[in-house]
Amino acid sequence: MIIFDELVKDHETQRIIADQILETQGDSTERKQLWVNLKKELTAHEESEERHFYIPLMQVDKSQEQARHSVAEHHEMDELVDKLDETDMSTSAWLIYFRDLHEKINHHLDEEEEDVFDLAKKVLNDQEIERLGREYRQMMQEKKKS
Ligand SMILES: [Fe+2]
Ligand SMILES: [Fe+2]
Repeated sequence: MIIFDELVKDHETQRIIADQILETQGDSTERKQLWVNLKKELTAHEESEERHFYIPLMQVDKSQEQARHSVAEHHEMDELVDKLDETDMSTSAWLIYFRDLHEKINHHLDEEEEDVFDLAKKVLNDQEIERLGREYRQMMQEKKKS
């Protein structure tokens, strides 16, 4: 298992769910269910990715700053998720915040795939790339069970 492929699979899931939410209305069952799913995907991914991708990248000078930047973006997204949870889903404010989150998610995932992966390929060797992929997938499976 290659860490980059594993991360991309879950990024795709997030992109799809986030797009689907934009098509929903008010406090419908569909929106509620998709929102629960998206939060679960985001949290499990952020935690597993930090542990098995960003922590190793932080240990190398060349990738430390970029790794910190990405983790800071995780925190920004978490704050926005909390704000959405505190907002009534049937209001236009919820959709305004959600559009912001949708944009942040897409920006973050694109940046990971375009910039962070290139940098990570320079600092991780083939064995590490395989090992992190397995560890990441295992942690994701455990997180999504709970
Ligand atoms: Fe991320
Ligand atoms: Fe990611």
